[in-house]
Amino acid sequence: MNRGQKQWTAVDHYVSEELIPPDPVLDAALDASVAAGLPPIQVSPSQGKLLQLLAQVHHAHTILEVGTLGGYSTIWLARSLPRGGGLVTLEVSPQHAQVARDNLARAHLLKVVELRVGPALETLPQLQAEGKGPFDLVFIDADKANTPDYFLWALKLTRRGSLIIVDNVVRKGELIATDSSDPSILGMRRFIHLLGSEPRVTATVIQTVGSKGYDGFALALVMRDP
Ligand code: SAH
Ligand code: DHB
Ligand code: MG
Repeated sequence: MNRGQKQWTAVDHYVSEELIPPDPVLDAALDASVAAGLPPIQVSPSQGKLLQLLAQVHHAHTILEVGTLGGYSTIWLARSLPRGGGLVTLEVSPQHAQVARDNLARAHLLKVVELRVGPALETLPQLQAEGKGPFDLVFIDADKANTPDYFLWALKLTRRGSLIIVDNVVRKGELIATDSSDPSILGMRRFIHLLGSEPRVTATVIQTVGSKGYDGFALALVMRDP
């Protein structure tokens, strides 16, 4: 039995309903994002919970996110933080950032989440200049073409033992389209190659199917201090 996308979505909904309790704050964040016209590209509930679970397993106290959108993944991740922990999230769009701020306020997370607005290639060096970090966990989920650069910045802002997670690395399998001229695909291919040749990390890619289609996450464990 393989009905493709329909089945992936149905199974995703089934396991989400069984494993993820109803959550008015997350639902309101999604509603507000739709109402504001944001693209519906946030992680799925089961993926949000995976991110949260990884942060919990890792006992992450400090988290860096690149690509906030409406703050949906931010809420999942920030809720994993122990007392005294903090999350910094970077977003280029002032409109997305405003939606995220409202959603984070509703989640009572504005005290632990710092939202910085601007191109991440500008805000990442600022974080370093301010001596922020090292971050225990980094979630990279912004413009795909710049993923290799975000990964290199993540290495500067982490420590031995940190976990770097990158979304959307498989893109319906287009990752292996050697003839692609799509900047997102080129960016991900360059990123995966970098990941394999970077001695400071040990890494893998997990392909996923579900309500967001066929895609995948890269997971990299940082083996050295910067
Ligand atoms: N992590 C979110 C989804 C992020 S979508 C979630 O799962 O809920 C990608 C986001 O990256 C968009 O909001 C987009 O505006 C932002 N983005 C795109 N280019 C960027 C850049 N150069 N710097 C920072 N953010 C960027
Ligand atoms: C897109 C971006 C994402 O971060 C994602 O998870 C899915 C799609 C996009 O830009 O199309
Ligand atoms: Mg994504």
